[in-house]
Amino acid sequence: MDRETKQLLRWMQLLKFLILGIIVLFFSTLYVLQWGIPAWISEGEITNGEVKEDSVSRPNPLFVQVWTAPSDWRLDRLSKDQREEIQYGKELISHTAAYLGPNGTVAHLSNGMNCQNCHVQAGQQPWGNNYFAVASTYPKFRARSGMVESQAKRVNDCFERSLNGRALDTTSREMQAILAYMRWLGSDVKKGTVPKGSGIFKLAVLDRAADPIKGKTIYQAKCQSCHQEDGGGLKNGKEYTYPPLWGEHSYNDGAGLYRLSNFAGYVKYNMPLGATYETPQLTDEEAWDLAAFVNSMPRPKKDIQQDWPKISEKPFDHPFGPYADPFSEDQHKFGPFGPIQKWKKEHSKSK
Ligand code: HEC
Ligand code: HEC
Repeated sequence: MDRETKQLLRWMQLLKFLILGIIVLFFSTLYVLQWGIPAWISEGEITNGEVKEDSVSRPNPLFVQVWTAPSDWRLDRLSKDQREEIQYGKELISHTAAYLGPNGTVAHLSNGMNCQNCHVQAGQQPWGNNYFAVASTYPKFRARSGMVESQAKRVNDCFERSLNGRALDTTSREMQAILAYMRWLGSDVKKGTVPKGSGIFKLAVLDRAADPIKGKTIYQAKCQSCHQEDGGGLKNGKEYTYPPLWGEHSYNDGAGLYRLSNFAGYVKYNMPLGATYETPQLTDEEAWDLAAFVNSMPRPKKDIQQDWPKISEKPFDHPFGPYADPFSEDQHKFGPFGPIQKWKKEHSKSK
């Protein structure tokens, strides 16, 4: 063999190793993409029991590829007027109190909370009580009012209940901007559909009643540092750094969050601050018990005698009678909800 052939053979040997290396790298990348970093490598897997409950190997399809809001750059395609109206709408959702709160620059018609306090990231957060389905599903019939509600009526429901205030004039620049923003968020949503991740997640009900006493202990450990011992939150100028959970400046007893299922589903995937559907920090039980505690504390009342004109359509966790079913107000407020849901199912079938 001459020197050149030897050299060539050595190079080929090297190439073989190189190719083998690439193949091994390729398949291990594939493995990690498919199944994640193996447990024996990943330290992150060593967690306490509670977190493990949420990190089962097959992800819940309701948390995969959830809907998201249109990107901001698309606003540049609109006319200046359209763009500014949408941006004003978003501003009103994020900083409602600055414009419409007790010391607002435009009007004084709310309790000082911002829409964003409950509609996280200006209503753009998946499972954060977002507005993705507003443009696509309203006007729609709502059993609470017993009528077909426009988007403006639904917005005003929150002004009158969640913000314990007065309705906004539907022809006002502010209402028009809020509606323009909601239409923008729903730009790509097909009419009549509800995208995945819209609104509030519906947790499975517990097989016991939710427990306000347990809820209080969890509140003290995980919520009180921000929302305060008296539940009144912390105000900074016109807006809350930490909004109130009960007391005279909180939502009233006709509001959506006053129903335990809404409260539990909201806090499970949004609280303590920073938690999301991808990084929840509460167990389902904790979320339900917190809901029972917070909604047992004093808050403003609303005259809701006109609500639910058909009493058979009251949801299982509507805490005010009379009911079409034989269960008490107490059970409708705290549960166990399973028997109520079962009764409702059986009686809707027999009709
Ligand atoms: C205290 C919490 C809270 C605040 C503050 C709040 N909301 Fe809501 N909002 C809710 C809850 C809870 C729901 C869902 C209620 C339900 O499904 O029964 C809701 C629902 C809505 C919906 C209907 C969403 C849908 O897909 O059907 C709109 C629109 C809305 N809110 C607008 C607003 C606006 C605008 C503001 C500010 C002026 C506001 N909300 C402030 C709690 C709040
Ligand atoms: C680190 C501070 C912090 C902690 C801890 C925290 N929150 Fe919040 N919470 C907030 C802030 C800030 C908002 C308003 C969100 C926004 O404007 O983006 C909020 C909003 C809320 C709301 C809706 C608005 C309202 O006032 O009704 C509820 C309900 C809520 N939190 C419940 C809880 C519960 C229950 C816990 C305990 C598990 C908790 N929070 C822990 C900061 C916190």
